[in-house]
Amino acid sequence: MTISQAPNYGIEDASYQAAGQLQGLIKLVNDFYDIMETLPEAAHIRAMHPHDLSVSRDKLALFLSAWLNGPRLYAAKYGKGISMPRAHAHLPITDADRIVWLKCMSLALQQQDYAEDFKQYLLTQLNVPASRIVALCEQQHSQ
Ligand code: HEM
Repeated sequence: MTISQAPNYGIEDASYQAAGQLQGLIKLVNDFYDIMETLPEAAHIRAMHPHDLSVSRDKLALFLSAWLNGPRLYAAKYGKGISMPRAHAHLPITDADRIVWLKCMSLALQQQDYAEDFKQYLLTQLNVPASRIVALCEQQHSQ
């Protein structure tokens, strides 16, 4: 009988390791923002970002490190207490924007040397904060 060896990405820093640690996250985020810069349907969410994406790239890679139970690099560099919905509350992000954001991430994941089940896991997990961001942004901007 074969016993399944599927890794449990929720255990300790398994996700951080599966993402290739910080170097892997930097590559993922760079590919993600490169895709956002070129995909026509992402022009709207690209335009919400600063002209120079270098800080956005750095912040997302460092944020994902702690989010995947790796080192708390975002807090060390940019300060503690960040809530992803609140960090986006000033933006008019809709559900259509969430779908495009996740599409950019899905295309970026396809360019990574990750296990296929980890790519799917990460995309499913990222949809959780993405949906919370939309809920808060729509509440803020409907008034
Ligand atoms: C739902 C779709 C999303 C859109 C359209 C979006 C868009 C943006 C934009 C435009 C900024 C720049 C804000 C500014 O400079 O004022 C930003 C910042 C950021 N986003 Fe998102 N985002 C989305 C989802 C996410 C998700 C799911 C995560 C992480 C799990 C995330 C993590 C970040 C981080 C860490 C920053 C930097 C926050 C800061 O320190 O200011 N975003 N996002």
